[in-house]
Amino acid sequence: APPAIIAPSILSADFANLGHDCAKTMDQGADWLHVDIMDGHFVPNITFGPPVVAKIRSHVANPADTNSPLGRGTFDCHMMIAEPKRWVREFKDAGANLYCFHYEAAFSTAAETPSAQSELKTSPRELVRYIHSLGLQAGVAIKPATPVDVLFELVEAVDEVERPDMVLVMTVEPGFGGQKFMPEQMPKVQALRKRYPELNIEVDGGLGPGTIDVAAEAGANVIVAGSAVFGAKDPSEVIAKLRKAVES
Ligand code: DX5
Ligand code: ZN
Repeated sequence: APPAIIAPSILSADFANLGHDCAKTMDQGADWLHVDIMDGHFVPNITFGPPVVAKIRSHVANPADTNSPLGRGTFDCHMMIAEPKRWVREFKDAGANLYCFHYEAAFSTAAETPSAQSELKTSPRELVRYIHSLGLQAGVAIKPATPVDVLFELVEAVDEVERPDMVLVMTVEPGFGGQKFMPEQMPKVQALRKRYPELNIEVDGGLGPGTIDVAAEAGANVIVAGSAVFGAKDPSEVIAKLRKAVES
């Protein structure tokens, strides 16, 4: 099975001290930073955009500089936005490493430039290919109501550049931190792990010391935790606990 990857969600960090909080959570044992991008359309909340990502990048060493894709310091950008294709280049330039779009949003006609809109109709497969063509790793996320089957076709694409490097099974409705973990999403993780022993499978929402065992047992290896890490008295201890649960 792939290694445990702990990715604190900076949605629960202090937004007035983001650079400091990002560097600190890396020192406390995080592997990646989970960067939640929300546009007020795909989800009923707004976070931040490329300029903020570029600023926090200067506080965390970029694995792209040492040619280690998905290595320590990976910015795992969870794109909760209605036009995922529109923003790939901007986030790449801002220092993103992994661009994880929502399957549900990948059928729009949004293109890189408004004038090219008519020619560039997006599909999930095409979007994975496009993300790879810009030198980023690609992830595909599904909301709780989306069946897991839609991911099978992508992961099994014949052409390697159309295969995602990670899939994300949401364990809350996207939009806010601090919600309750949905154990009923675990059969999706189990089905994915059974089919794909080496795939990076991420879970996001409501993860913490009280819910990690269920997610780890189902087969998740990339663990997002926002409030459980940033709200803890001892974040290092929480990160270590999450890692141990996945590794055991
Ligand atoms: C929710 C975000 C999550 C969120 C998780 O829409 O995608 O990444 O920050 O927060 P917790 O861990 O507090 O549920
Ligand atoms: Zn997220």
